[in-house]
Amino acid sequence: MANIKLMSNQLANMIAAGEVVEQPQHVIKELVENAMDAKAKHITIDVKDEGLSLIRVEDDGIGMSEEDLPLSIQRHATSKVFNIEDLQSIQTLGFRGEALAAIASVSKLKIFSKSKETSGKVMEVDSGEIKSIHDYAMNQGTIVEITQLFFNTPARFKFMKSSFQQQKYIRQLFMEMALSRPTISFQLIENDKIYKQTSGSGDTLLLIEELFGKQYATVTQKVTTQIAHTKMELFLGSPDINVSTKSYMHTFVNQRYVKHYGIQESILSGYDGRLMTKRYPFVLCYITIDPQRIDINIHPQKLHVKLTNESVLAYHIRETVANHLNSTIRPLVRPMQIKDDQYSSQTLEFEENLDIYESNEVKQTKIPTMYYIGMLGGTYGIFQNHEGLFLVDAHAAQERVRYEYYQDKFDIKNVTQIQRIVAFPWTLDNEMIEDAMKQTSLLKSFQFDVSKEGIHAHPQLIKEVDLNHAVEIILNDQTLSMSQFKDQLSKDMSCKGSIKANQRISQHEFEHLIASLNACDEPYHCPHGRPTIIQVTYQDIEKMFKRIV
Ligand SMILES: Nc1ncnc2c1ncn2[C@@H]1O[C@H](COP(=O)(O)OP(=O)(O)OP(=O)(O)O)[C@@H](O)[C@H]1O
Ligand SMILES: [Mg+2]
Repeated sequence: MANIKLMSNQLANMIAAGEVVEQPQHVIKELVENAMDAKAKHITIDVKDEGLSLIRVEDDGIGMSEEDLPLSIQRHATSKVFNIEDLQSIQTLGFRGEALAAIASVSKLKIFSKSKETSGKVMEVDSGEIKSIHDYAMNQGTIVEITQLFFNTPARFKFMKSSFQQQKYIRQLFMEMALSRPTISFQLIENDKIYKQTSGSGDTLLLIEELFGKQYATVTQKVTTQIAHTKMELFLGSPDINVSTKSYMHTFVNQRYVKHYGIQESILSGYDGRLMTKRYPFVLCYITIDPQRIDINIHPQKLHVKLTNESVLAYHIRETVANHLNSTIRPLVRPMQIKDDQYSSQTLEFEENLDIYESNEVKQTKIPTMYYIGMLGGTYGIFQNHEGLFLVDAHAAQERVRYEYYQDKFDIKNVTQIQRIVAFPWTLDNEMIEDAMKQTSLLKSFQFDVSKEGIHAHPQLIKEVDLNHAVEIILNDQTLSMSQFKDQLSKDMSCKGSIKANQRISQHEFEHLIASLNACDEPYHCPHGRPTIIQVTYQDIEKMFKRIV
């Protein structure tokens, strides 16, 4: 007797539901995507008890006819994809024809719908089975109302995350959905209270203001760029507004919210040097690409996509972000225009006997003229001028100075090697030395000659104390280019060689440091993104003393 039998539709749908709708927010996502595919202009999401007692999504889209209504909850029934060619150039968010079938199998739901040509109907469904279809007077559009989600899958119900976590997921999803379509007005109602709503104005900066507040919108700038037929619209937040997670970095491909590690990393590398480690910017990245060049069908919840030529795109994005940040965004400190002759002569005088940064030209006078008052806590220099008070972080300032010193000095196209009479001894561990022995030709390409005894030859600029560390950098990432090596090295060297907190420095040394900082391209941030100088204006002080309001 045969043991293998075809499973019932109901069971097959429940199994499929395990992949598509594990949590209430997945259900909401599917319903809202259907509403967006139906060309809705307004979408309202109503949630009670984080979706467990009610999920109701209302739209004013094209609606469904009486014949379509029962088909909508059948597995593999869709109005969006009919043949293989359609699948290869998907224009809609849905295409599998399984979401409603899966949701219906694990809940009790009602679908109210009215298309342009037909009258309104309501269909009642219990565990995937249609109970009734009745007339219902309504405007064009669709309402899907789910009560008792997962009532027939007790195990799933039990494994629901805490309601606090669940609420967070739903809010996050709402943000992603609303951000994906600036022209649609969205509303999220939680337990009868409006959480947030958007106007659907089509203006993304206004949308940012509506969702995150004015403080985000005012420091975000729009940059558009194109490579071949792929268009990109980037909304780049100032590095001064940053958070400890990547949850404010969003990517959209053809109006679909996606998680794309490569794109995210390329954006972050564009911000390189402006953010502290483990701090992330606010960025929205909208990509419009030929649908034939993307594969969406690689993840059950359609969260990941594969793009053709991803690496070219990633490189282009990185360059666009870096160029934009270089050209426009200034730190929150208020730099002052230098008009004062006395300052330039002073700067040159400092420059002459500079041992930290030996440059005889002042590239740009960016730091305001200011006069030393003293030190605070052994770490901060206090300066003043007619604008107010300045605090300078000595460690961060010197990191910047040394970073740019190495960056400028280390000419990657022309690295001079010096030979040592006696090998410089290893301080690396044995495993690393063995690794170095295996990688002699790689090390040679960076102008290092090494043996078991130590380092025999190396690039001239690298200081003895940094030699072992430089070898370590090369061995740790054997795919490094010379310019990446230089970058890493200058970052590490600047950090190692800089003044540590609480190490007193004299007034003279501090003034040297400011002059050197002034000669830097980016004087206001250390290479890790921390500010070097902050300013408190007289106005700020007067406000603090309540002389002005
Ligand atoms: N809000 C809505 N307005 C109009 N039609 C809808 C709506 N929701 C669902 N439908 C219809 O029901 C069909 C089935 O929806 P369902 O979400 O199950 O599948 P899909 O969107 O086609 O594909 P996927 O499973 O990838 O989401 C859709 O193709 C659409 O025709
Ligand atoms: Mg769908």
